[in-house]
Amino acid sequence: MFLTLNVTPVLMLFSGINGSEKVQSKLNVVLIMLDDFRGGIGALGDKLAKTPNMDLLAQRSFYFPHVYASQALCAPSRNSMLTSRRPDTLLTYNFQHYWRTFVGNYTTLPQYFKENGYRTESVGKIFHHGPSSNKTDDFPYSWSNPTYIPSTQDYRNKPVCIGDDGNLRRNLICPVVVNLQPESTLPDIQVAKKAREFLNESHDKPFFLGVGFYKPHIPFKFPAEYLDQHDINNFKRDLIRPIDIPDVAWNPYNDLRERDDFKALNVSFPFGPVPSEFAAKIRQHYYASVTYVDDLIGGVLEFVDFSNTIVILTSDHAWSLGEHSAWSKFNESDHFAFSQYPRPGTFPSKSPDSDQPKLREIKIMGYSIRSKQFRYTAWIKFNSKKFKRNWRKIYGEELYDHSFDDDENINLAHRFGFEDIKNEFKQRLMQKFP
Ligand SMILES: *[C@@H]1O[C@H](CO)[C@@H](O)[C@H](O)[C@H]1NC(C)=O
Ligand SMILES: *[C@@H]1O[C@H](CO)[C@@H](O)[C@H](O)[C@H]1NC(C)=O
Ligand SMILES: *[C@@H]1O[C@H](CO)[C@@H](O)[C@H](O)[C@H]1NC(C)=O
Ligand SMILES: *[C@@H]1O[C@H](CO)[C@@H](O)[C@H](O)[C@H]1NC(C)=O
Ligand SMILES: *[C@@H]1O[C@H](CO)[C@@H](O)[C@H](O)[C@H]1NC(C)=O
Repeated sequence: MFLTLNVTPVLMLFSGINGSEKVQSKLNVVLIMLDDFRGGIGALGDKLAKTPNMDLLAQRSFYFPHVYASQALCAPSRNSMLTSRRPDTLLTYNFQHYWRTFVGNYTTLPQYFKENGYRTESVGKIFHHGPSSNKTDDFPYSWSNPTYIPSTQDYRNKPVCIGDDGNLRRNLICPVVVNLQPESTLPDIQVAKKAREFLNESHDKPFFLGVGFYKPHIPFKFPAEYLDQHDINNFKRDLIRPIDIPDVAWNPYNDLRERDDFKALNVSFPFGPVPSEFAAKIRQHYYASVTYVDDLIGGVLEFVDFSNTIVILTSDHAWSLGEHSAWSKFNESDHFAFSQYPRPGTFPSKSPDSDQPKLREIKIMGYSIRSKQFRYTAWIKFNSKKFKRNWRKIYGEELYDHSFDDDENINLAHRFGFEDIKNEFKQRLMQKFP
């Protein structure tokens, strides 16, 4: 394996076939996707992770460390990956638009398998559910049957967490007793069960099975016993907001601010900081959610016949755990090849939600390019009616040198001596996104 994992936004593991085993001409495919998973697993160097099942899978897999999300939001990222097209090509910047009717009738990855003799099934969240996949997860084009959505997804935003006062709340931090939850189960437990049942059937056709888990996405609702493996003392660290990040680059983690427990903290808008004690809890509960999903993945992998099946494990994009003193998705300080960040204005706002503006609200687009040594980002004027960019109107620029600043704390964009490098990257972005 190549890199330390904490600098890698999206994990992709690819488990091939042992060369000595006899293989059928068409291999089965199992695509496992996690939601908002930053890729930290034990086998690839994350010392805080407890992920024995993904570790085992990694040991028998190819690991692709340079896997980049093109936008840090479910629908744009997933549609992009599943169609092999950038969100800018699909014109998908949020959750509203379905590419087939809005842009073009592009083929998806599962659709390609389906049209070539495979049975294709989707269990849980492969496409983002809702309008961006025509409220059908792109059935019937991508899948042989409608997607299985677990019944307990209905409670995903319901007050089912027991608060400090004993009342039911819509909390961010939400470890639960499964038997006391609606239907005595949780969405990912249902997903794993359904996937196991499918894999356990006998199949007369090769299959492509998508298994989409909903965690570690917020709220951190998982069986409370997973906390036992994660001592809060390992998660205490305060990171600072670098002074020279332009305001337009800041994501104020509005999705966290809507949660009852977070609201009660009165975290100052938009820059925070989140109190240290609660910050440690967020990290701890994120890691516990990952351990929970890892356990479920193990249960699914037991039913995979590795002699005729390819397993791919990946995520839609990462999630900030206090890096730059920022949280959540939308703008994690990850290292993208090319990436984009829509914004409704130059200063972080709640309404419009500057983390996930609707198409008509988008006024600015951040474009990012990463080389081995540098990362450059330009925040430019964007016309969301005509999808036109204006490179003469720049609201902010960032340039980071990874040879000495892996955490991207020192913005070199306006410092003496970096003019040529900056212009070179800017030219490349302008060519790519004219
Ligand atoms: C889109 O592609 C699908 C599959 O190739 C085809 O069945 C359908 O007719 C196409 N729709 C349009 C509007 O072209
Ligand atoms: C999307 O869903 C609508 C409503 O169910 C349906 O009428 C339409 O044909 C679907 N679009 C495509 C491209 O299949
Ligand atoms: C797997 O199939 C066998 C035989 O049909 C059955 O007894 C068993 O309960 C199944 N297991 C699962 C997890 O579906
Ligand atoms: C937050 O503000 C409310 C209302 O002003 C106050 O009652 C509460 O004690 C504050 N909470 C904290 C953690 O400061
Ligand atoms: C947001 O993302 C952009 C592009 O990767 C980056 O330049 C900026 O520093 C990030 N902001 C924060 C708060 O990390």
